[in-house]
Amino acid sequence: MVTEMVGEILRLKREKKAIILAHNYQRGEIQDIADFVGDSLELSKKATEVKCDVIVFCGVHFMAETAAILNPEKIVLLPEIDAGCPMADMIDGEKLKKWASQYPDTPVVSYVNTTAEVKALSYVCCTSANAPEIVKAVPSQRVLFVPDKNLALWAKRKVPQKEIIFWDGFCPTHHMIRREDVMRAKESYPHALVVVHPECRPEVIELADHVASTSGMVRFANKSNAKDYIIGTEEGIIYRLKKENPQKNFYPLKKTMVCPNMKVTTLESVYNALKEMKHVIKVSEEIRIKAKEALDRMFELYHPSNR
Ligand code: 13P
Ligand code: SF4
Repeated sequence: MVTEMVGEILRLKREKKAIILAHNYQRGEIQDIADFVGDSLELSKKATEVKCDVIVFCGVHFMAETAAILNPEKIVLLPEIDAGCPMADMIDGEKLKKWASQYPDTPVVSYVNTTAEVKALSYVCCTSANAPEIVKAVPSQRVLFVPDKNLALWAKRKVPQKEIIFWDGFCPTHHMIRREDVMRAKESYPHALVVVHPECRPEVIELADHVASTSGMVRFANKSNAKDYIIGTEEGIIYRLKKENPQKNFYPLKKTMVCPNMKVTTLESVYNALKEMKHVIKVSEEIRIKAKEALDRMFELYHPSNR
């Protein structure tokens, strides 16, 4: 049954000249059928490079929207239209305008986990893979950072010379992790390295051996000689970590680290998306052009070779 579904997806993919991009948190079976699996930075770069008519984006809404901003000539499909990001929904254009008006001439750095409207009001975007580098590169001593306060504090830790005024947003999946959870996991696996995402609280980051974006975690584990790892991010990444390192052990920092939005996409949703060409993600041209400027500036200011 699953094999039949996968066969149908591959057939439709060829017929529609489509490419499947999947985020590292997607279900294993989705990662397995994807042409490319990565973190937000890699996926937004990939979206500009792939040669195809259709991009099926297996992730959450802001990711597909970013692909649509960067590729006006391609059709971008989000298989499950309700796959949102609660953190991205913590700020909108109106709230940002009102807040930013208190700090005239201060550039806005927006995490890619935002709506197109928020990106359009920003000087530059960043992702979890480059937030400190982007903050450092902005030609202003003071910056506004939205929406993730934990990522802002991570950037502040790496770039203490900058003043970062941040929005009070957070990712529910990462923010619920507390110091005690790390201590408990370390007690259970005393030899394991603790690797966490920068969306975690500073008290969690404090106890980590390594802090990285999701693909940064994969690069770290692929290179490291350690055998055991406690992983402080959404559990979907563990599938990829194990696939690329079958001889190593990866333990979720807490079993409840699940982003429900990242789990709604199934093989059936991908099949239906391709068959019915749904749901097409569109951004008005006025917003798209401005949002693209903020994304393009991120690519100008940060080159992955600096990593
Ligand atoms: P990455 O860019 O590190 O993959 O993170 C995306 C995300 O949504 C984290 O919660
Ligand atoms: Fe948003 Fe957090 Fe889910 Fe990432 S893990 S999509 S930041 S809610």
